[in-house]
Amino acid sequence: MSDNLDAIRVEALARIAAAADEAALEQVRIDYLGRKGPIAEALAEMPRLPASERPLLGKAANEAKQAIAAAIEGHQAELERGRLANLGHSESIDVTFPAPPLGRGHQHVLSQVRRELEVIFERLGYHVEEGPEIESDWYNFEALNLPKGHASRDVHDTFFFGEEVVLRTHTSPVQIRAMERLKTPPIYIICPGRTYRKENLDATHLAGFMQLEGLAVDEGLTVGDLKGTLLYLVQSLFGPARQVRMRPHHFSYTEPSFEFDTLCGRCEGAGCRSCGQQGWLETGGCGMVHPQVLRNGGIDPDRYTGFAWGFGIERMALLKYDVEDLRLFYENDLRFNEQF
Ligand code: DAH
Repeated sequence: MSDNLDAIRVEALARIAAAADEAALEQVRIDYLGRKGPIAEALAEMPRLPASERPLLGKAANEAKQAIAAAIEGHQAELERGRLANLGHSESIDVTFPAPPLGRGHQHVLSQVRRELEVIFERLGYHVEEGPEIESDWYNFEALNLPKGHASRDVHDTFFFGEEVVLRTHTSPVQIRAMERLKTPPIYIICPGRTYRKENLDATHLAGFMQLEGLAVDEGLTVGDLKGTLLYLVQSLFGPARQVRMRPHHFSYTEPSFEFDTLCGRCEGAGCRSCGQQGWLETGGCGMVHPQVLRNGGIDPDRYTGFAWGFGIERMALLKYDVEDLRLFYENDLRFNEQF
């Protein structure tokens, strides 16, 4: 009887090895381990055998059963592995199919304009200087001919930290720092940077904004050089048709002082809604550096002259792209940012 079981086992293992898929394997399981299979049959014969032979048969039947079950399990795992390995070929995964687009970021419009301005002045030989945003009263005011109590201080709506320390209200203090650091002219520097004023926010006023300061100190510089520089600026930024106009003004750190305007690009001077019927757009302040300011920076005003200017970077971006409200630059609405 157990010889018979050995034969059954060999036969079953051969069929298991040949099973091509899971259905065939299941059929082998039913044929050999099922209730009507040869092993069940052999066990059913047991009562008719002499008692001495029964344990032997029981043992042989169990071994055959376990061997067949283990072989089925092993083959099942093999079929599974084969199916996974074939997946790439049979269930087509197209590895050349384009991936969904990843949104790529870019520089904020203000960073773009700031960089563009830096490049324009770098072409003229200027380099970028920096100064602290938390500034002393001396650099922000005093050294620029704005002693305590001076009327012009009022327009600066200053954030104070105590008596002597302020959030800088303009980038002009960097003029003094640059002269102190560089000492000997020629000095040609720009300083783009953050500035702060206690403003009520509206379409044309922010409490934190950026300015770009410029300073040139050399032998024999004149108002003509200043105007040529500003003309180069606006034509580089806005296009060759733009002109510059300088109007007399007052700043304590320049003499003479001016405000400068850019010819309106929309009406070319005729007057339109864009320029408030003026034909010109207010752009910034400028002038010839006051001799006392040169002296405060350690420069001899008998030998050297200088010119300087300052303007708002947000305002420049607004003029360049016809944006109607400065606050849009800081809201970070992607629908706005993605236009630039
Ligand atoms: N500091 C001025 C402001 O904040 C701008 C300015 C005017 C800067 C004249 C200058 C200058 O360098 O010469 O409005």
